[in-house]
Amino acid sequence: MSVAGRRIVLGVSGGIAAYKAVEVCRRLMDLGAFVSPILTPNATKFIGAATFSAVASERALTSLYDNVGDPSPHTRLGQAADLIIVAPATARVLAAYATGSSEGLLTATLLATRAPVLVCPAMHTEMWEHPAVQDNLAILRRRGVHVLEPESGHLAGGDIGKGRLPEPSEIVKAAEAVLAPQDLKGVRVLVTAGGTREAIDAVRVITNRSSGKQGHAIAEAAAARGASVTLVTTTDRAVSRGIERVAVNSASDMLEAVTAHRDASDVIVMAAAVADFRPAAPAANKIKKDGGVPEIVLEPTDDILRGLGEVKRPGQILVGFAAETDDVVANATAKLTRKNLDLVVANDVSAPGVGFDHDTNAVTIVSADGPVVEVPLSSKQDVARALLDAVATRLRRSTQ
Ligand code: CTP
Repeated sequence: MSVAGRRIVLGVSGGIAAYKAVEVCRRLMDLGAFVSPILTPNATKFIGAATFSAVASERALTSLYDNVGDPSPHTRLGQAADLIIVAPATARVLAAYATGSSEGLLTATLLATRAPVLVCPAMHTEMWEHPAVQDNLAILRRRGVHVLEPESGHLAGGDIGKGRLPEPSEIVKAAEAVLAPQDLKGVRVLVTAGGTREAIDAVRVITNRSSGKQGHAIAEAAAARGASVTLVTTTDRAVSRGIERVAVNSASDMLEAVTAHRDASDVIVMAAAVADFRPAAPAANKIKKDGGVPEIVLEPTDDILRGLGEVKRPGQILVGFAAETDDVVANATAKLTRKNLDLVVANDVSAPGVGFDHDTNAVTIVSADGPVVEVPLSSKQDVARALLDAVATRLRRSTQ
């Protein structure tokens, strides 16, 4: 679920990583969330409340008491929140939260809410590994608090180790995951992404303009909805923790990886732009130009999707993509029948802002026996959500 329209309390406690919380705030705002920042007094030693006030939906608060016209900010914010994020969460704030202390505005708000809470601890490695901190986190986890673990890397003072606050984009993704409906829990999803690369010789390849963004967005959205996800990708895009990433290059690598995961998958989404043709005899060495212009003979690749359709097991959901330039729905429907698919995501790649390399897409989701869903020009994340809604509907139907 997107954070758009959600009321999010962003708690910031006193660590050097507090500056990164400004970026978290800005990204949440960009995505359409209503963000109320709370800074602990120690956080204000690292970053000014005015910075958050300038970026957020309402003035940043730092205390329970000095808020004119707002006598009970902790209950106002706690009761209205859809989500509370604490980033960075210091050892002290985690301890106060675990013991139910309400000494400051942030900890009081954490007690005054029934909304989900995401804590993002950040501290030095020794502190992170201390049994007191780990015991407090165990208590919080037991109570259903979501914990985004720190990363390894450079820490304050030049040290290196585990304890670093994850990047703002990761924190926002984790927030979206917490808000997502868990309607794909226990579902095994296999997604392919990116354009394949077919060797001409030792250095040259034939490829296409696919960026892999749409496939990656589907994998991320499925994981956020509780699915266990394997992503077979040709790109070097990072994936969230928890997604199994299988790196491939050519169509035949992709076929091998997909075949290995096929039978264990409940849903397979072929979002990759797989080459239809490859050089029949790639040269082992680099072809030198003084040999003249080479003639490159092509041969067809295996159609992975068609092969999956031929051996599809009952209940397995197979999704294909159709990059078309004319008669989009008619061609997609024909592909659906020809390849024995459940859903086809069709896009008119000739339309502006659609398909290859763009951050946006506009698609028509054609189903074997359900409604045709039009998704107007949207982010690739929104397209992913619409597709997974259609997948979840079919899964529900097949288990009824
Ligand atoms: N696909 C595949 N293996 C291939 C080629 C394509 O699995 N060798 C999958 C893509 O991942 C995508 C769908 O098939 O899900 C797109 O097929 P496309 O190449 O557009 O369709 P074709 O059936 O090959 O028809 P046409 O080339 O006429 O559009």
